[in-house]
This record gives sequence, structure tokens and C-alpha cells, in this order.
Amino acid sequence: MSDPGYVHGYSLREAARLADQADTLAELLHVGTHYPAGARVLECGCGTGAQTVHLAASSPEAEIVSVDISPEHLERARERTETAGYTNVSFQIADAYDLPFAEQSFDHVFVCFLLEHLPEPERALGQLRGLLKECGSITAIEGDHGSWYCHPSTHEAERTVECLVEIQAGHGGDALIGRRLYPLLAGAGFHTVHVSPRLVYVDDSRPDLVEGFSKNTFIAMVEGVREQALDLGLMDEASWDKGIADMYKATDPGGTFSYTFFKGTALK
Ligand SMILES: C[S@@+](CC[C@H](N)C(=O)[O-])C[C@H]1O[C@@H](n2cnc3c(N)ncnc32)[C@H](O)[C@@H]1O
Repeated sequence: MSDPGYVHGYSLREAARLADQADTLAELLHVGTHYPAGARVLECGCGTGAQTVHLAASSPEAEIVSVDISPEHLERARERTETAGYTNVSFQIADAYDLPFAEQSFDHVFVCFLLEHLPEPERALGQLRGLLKECGSITAIEGDHGSWYCHPSTHEAERTVECLVEIQAGHGGDALIGRRLYPLLAGAGFHTVHVSPRLVYVDDSRPDLVEGFSKNTFIAMVEGVREQALDLGLMDEASWDKGIADMYKATDPGGTFSYTFFKGTALK
């Protein structure tokens, strides 16, 4: 039941990229997210469990139910969580538009990098809202590729990122969704919506971020759509390869990288 249109695919390399992304950004993205003992939390679109282990670690006494549409991703999530020794998480295959849970059966919902892949994110948010108890909360984290820049940069480097945005749009997603998080949450009926931008800035004084974010999260994500970009004729091969090489140059000493994530919280 994996979504064949999912832009990033279900390869082992993508699983490694999601883990690098989550581990590198854990402090930035998870700070402020703790659920109390006994709280029932739905993580929708858990992927390979890269965020799940951070949720389980910061809320060890909450009951976390993690779902994804992909059996491959869900199996990796289960393995990752078991290997890490967390026992407060259960897994289930489910579609964000058709969730097999009773209305008002969760205290909190957590979604991360899910809405950007959904053709109808507001409809999915509406369904998630229905699953929350009165006064339940949602936390939604999304990126926005329009917030990315690097130095030095070239037209080809910028074009590769535009190609990813266009390819994701072709799959019905929106890689620029971070800027829409506030209106999406409000439009789905949530109140007390608060969105905080979380900026990652990288230079060679932070070699951990050069590896974990610039190379292994961001450039790896763009490289992942190479075949799709070439097949669609969005760029020629030489220009694509130059664009990727130019992005890597911005990870050399003297280069810089920046990207903004958006973390939204709201109440039912
Ligand atoms: C970019 S991954 C993010 C995974 C994880 N939240 C993380 O941050 O590492 C997006 C995930 O959403 C899942 N997904 C896409 N469409 C979905 C849907 N309609 N219902 C549930 N999951 C979906 C994909 O299978 C994938 O695992």
C-alpha cells in the first residue's frame, strides 16, 4: 500500500537520510514537545521512525501510536524503536485521510514532514482534529525549500532545488508548505495556533551540521530526485551534476548553508 507517487521513495538511502535529518535536528525541532504520563499520542506519517525515537525518549510515559501508509517504512520504524529499547510505541499501517481510530481517542497528534506530501493537507488535518479529545493539541513540523540558500551559489545549484519543488508539486505535494502552516491549521478548525520558524544555519565552525544537515539531509534529498528531474527534462544531465557539485562546494570551508523549518502547535 506504499504510495507510488511519494517523491522521496522508499530506499535504504532515504531511510538513512530521514535518520540523519531527525538526529541532527532533534534539539531544534523537538524542544518543547513533551507529553505527560498516560497521554495517548498519535504520530501520523511516522516514516522509518526517525522522529518516533525522539518522541518516545522525551515522553517515556506517554502511549504513542505511530502510523504510516508504507509497510516498508513502518517495518523500519518498528525495528528502530525496538532496537532503541522503547516499549511505549505501537505501530499500525494507516492512511492519513482514513484513520482507523475512534473520534476523540487521542490527547495529542504529532506530524512531521507529512503535510508537504499530501495533495489535501487541510482535509487530513481536519480528520486528525476529529480524533483529538476536547482541548487536545496538534504539533506539526514542516520545511519550506524556498527558505534555503547557500554561499557560494550558482544558478545550477538553485535550479536543482527548484526541480525538487516542481517534482513534488507534480506528485500533489508542496515543498513550500512551511509558509502555509498557520493558515492550514486555522483553516482545519484548530485554535490558539502558534507557528515558530526554526532556522538552521551552517558554516564550517559546525562540522556536525555540515555533515548531518547540509550534506546528509539537504543535498541528499535533492540528489534523490536526479532521475525524475532528468526523465522529465527539467534540467540536462551536465547542468544537474554541476548544480549538485556547486552545492557541495558550499559545504567546503568558507561556504554557508541556511534553511528554515516551521513548527506549529494548536488546540482542538
Ligand atoms: C518525509 S517522510 C517523514 C517521516 C517522518 N515523519 C520523519 O520526519 O522522519 C513522509 C512519510 O509520510 C508517509 N505518507 C505519505 N502519504 C501518507 C498518507 N496519506 N498517510 C500516511 N502516511 C503517508 C510516507 O510514507 C513517509 O513515510
